[in-house]
Amino acid sequence: MAYRTETAVAAPSNEGAPQEMDTDVAIVTGGAGDLGRGVCRALTKAGATVVALDLDPSRADGVERALRCDVMDPAACAAAVEEVVRDFGGVSTLVNLAQGWNKMPLLEVSDAEMRLVFESGPMASLRMMQLCHPYMKARGGGAVINCASASGTQGGVRGEGVYAGAKEAIRGITKHASVEWGPDNIRVNVLCPVATSDPNRWPPTVIDRIPLGRLGDPETDVGGTVVFLAGPSGSFITGRTLFIDGGAGMYR
Ligand SMILES: NC(=O)c1ccc[n+]([C@@H]2O[C@H](COP(=O)([O-])OP(=O)(O)OC[C@H]3O[C@@H](n4cnc5c(N)ncnc54)[C@H](O)[C@@H]3O)[C@@H](O)[C@H]2O)c1
Repeated sequence: MAYRTETAVAAPSNEGAPQEMDTDVAIVTGGAGDLGRGVCRALTKAGATVVALDLDPSRADGVERALRCDVMDPAACAAAVEEVVRDFGGVSTLVNLAQGWNKMPLLEVSDAEMRLVFESGPMASLRMMQLCHPYMKARGGGAVINCASASGTQGGVRGEGVYAGAKEAIRGITKHASVEWGPDNIRVNVLCPVATSDPNRWPPTVIDRIPLGRLGDPETDVGGTVVFLAGPSGSFITGRTLFIDGGAGMYR
């Protein structure tokens, strides 16, 4: 398949660009969660101005601003993006981490549960991407980092069926957005992490399946990858799924 566009697309130049992200304005949804706090700290340390959106912004860390925003609410999302643009001059990076879901067998999943998982995951991710797109385009480009899961790419974990479906929807949207928005120099990638700041979050058997023998760190492993993808070093990477899982996927 050819991805030729009507107008020629010049390769983005890094000439004169700062290596740090000190001109970047980043929005992180789910930014007060376990991974979100680490991602926000990593982006801030790289020089970005970071705004976390979350149902509970009081838990945010290492951000310029934390806003209460339910990403299932279109008006709240629009207001949050408008506030960021008004106060910080634009948006260059969007990290979509917010996700609501509950573990349960597929036979027990209600319509309300399906709405929660799909509206907070793929629908909210696309909505935030649509809201940020014009501001990224106006800056000459930007980076979107979405969040999927090995639960979707590989399956096999009981009780995660609807969650897995929503995460695969996010990967599908990511791939198409990378094609549609490539001409705008907006790169769209998706992460599948295995990381936590809580060593007791999963049973030790989870570590047994990780070749590198440890869980990922939200700031250095996941946040570090986000900084890489959003910054100049990631300027030729789009449409990809990156597994930040210590090699765990090989065993599932
Ligand atoms: N931790 C992992 O190893 C792992 C593995 C695979 C995928 N993920 C994905 O990474 C992302 C972050 O995971 P985490 O481990 O930090 O989870 P977490 O539950 O600690 O954080 C999720 C955050 O999203 C927020 N949130 C939920 N629904 C929201 C809504 N409607 N509006 C705004 N905020 C909302 C929560 O308040 C919470 O702060 C999620 O998308 C998750 O599915 C994580």
